[in-house]
Amino acid sequence: MRIVSGIQPTGSLHLGNYLGAIRNWVRMQDSMDADSQCLFFLADLHAISMPHVPGELHSATLEMVAALVACGIDPDRSILFNQAQVPAHAELQWLLNGTARMGWLNRMTQFKDKSGKNREGASVALFTYPVLQAADVLLYQASHVPVGEDQKQHLELARDVAQKFNNDFCSEDAPVFTLPDPITPPEAARIMSLRDGTAKMSKSDPSEMSRINLMDDADEIMKKVKKAKTDPEPLPSESAGLQGRPEALNLVSIYAAVSGKEVDAVLAEFGGQGFGAFKPALGNLLVETIAPLSARFVELKQDREELDAILAKGALKARGLAEPTLNATYDALGLVRGHH
Ligand code: TYM
Repeated sequence: MRIVSGIQPTGSLHLGNYLGAIRNWVRMQDSMDADSQCLFFLADLHAISMPHVPGELHSATLEMVAALVACGIDPDRSILFNQAQVPAHAELQWLLNGTARMGWLNRMTQFKDKSGKNREGASVALFTYPVLQAADVLLYQASHVPVGEDQKQHLELARDVAQKFNNDFCSEDAPVFTLPDPITPPEAARIMSLRDGTAKMSKSDPSEMSRINLMDDADEIMKKVKKAKTDPEPLPSESAGLQGRPEALNLVSIYAAVSGKEVDAVLAEFGGQGFGAFKPALGNLLVETIAPLSARFVELKQDREELDAILAKGALKARGLAEPTLNATYDALGLVRGHH
C-alpha cells in the first residue's frame, strides 16, 4: 500500500478536516505493514490558487505541520513534507496538462463553488488545481488516498488522467501510473457547518462560529456547541427520525464519529431529550477529545527550527520516491532531457 494525501496550509485545522481525513491518516499510519508507506503533505502550491499573503504562507505551513504532528502523524514513520520543496509536483502537473481535458475540469464543483460569479476573474491555477492534485498522488503511485467526501470528485479526475495517460502513451504491460482509490470514513465523510446543516464545515467560512478548530480552548468549544443552530424538536430515538433535520443529523453524527458509536446507539441514549441535554454532552466529549491535541500543538508550534527540519527531511525522501515516475513520464511523452 502506498498512502498519499494532502491538506492546504490555509486557516486552522477544523473538526471536519480531523474527522473526515486526518484521523484516518493517523489510523492508516498506525496500522501500516513493513511494505507500505505513508506520504502526507502540505499543499502550499495549491494555496496560491486563491488570493494569499506571501509573508504568511510559510508560518501557516509550519503551524499545519505542528497540528498534524499533534494529531498523531509521526514524521519518523510517515513522510511529511510540503509541495514547494519537491519540484516534481509542479513538473508532473505540466506533463499531465497534456492529458487532462477541458471538459473534465469544467465539471469540477469546487471550481464552480470557489470562483462563484467571478469565473472570468478566477486564477488559471484555481481551474487547473485538480491536475496538480492528480500529480500529487500519481507521482508516488498512490494506491489509497484518505480524504473527505468533497475531494472525491478530484480523485475521480486523477483516475481518469492516469487511465488516459496509460492508454495513450504506455504499452499495456507497462503502465506508468497506478489508479488511486479514495478512502472516506463513512461516519464522517462530510461534517457540516454549525450554523447551517446544509453547508460543509470549511476553513473559508467567514463565521468562526460555523466550525470547531482543533486549537479552540474548552470555553470556545462549549460556546460554539451551545450556539450551534438546531430545531425545537427533541431528538428522535432512531436515525430515520433525523431525515429533514440537517442540523440535528450533523450534531448527532459528530457525537457518533467522535465517540466511535453508531448513530443509532447515540439516539438510543439521547432519544426523546432536547438539545438542552444533548449539547452539553457533545461539548464535553469534544473538549475531552480536543484538549490533548491542542495542548501538544501549542508546545510543538514554538519550535520552528524543528518543524523546518521535519519538512526538510520529508522533502528529501519524497524527492527520491518521486524520481522514477517523473522520469518515466518524460520518457513516455518522448521528451528527452539528456543527463542531469
Ligand atoms: P482541504 O485542505 O480543504 O481539506 C483537507 C482534508 O479535509 C477534508 N475535509 C472534510 N472532511 C469532512 N467534512 C468536512 N467538512 C471537511 N472539510 C475538509 C478534505 O476532504 C480533505 O481530505 N485539495 C485538497 C488538498 C489536496 C489533496 C491532494 C488531497 C491537494 N492535493 C492530493 C488529497 C490528495 C484540499 O484542499 O483539502
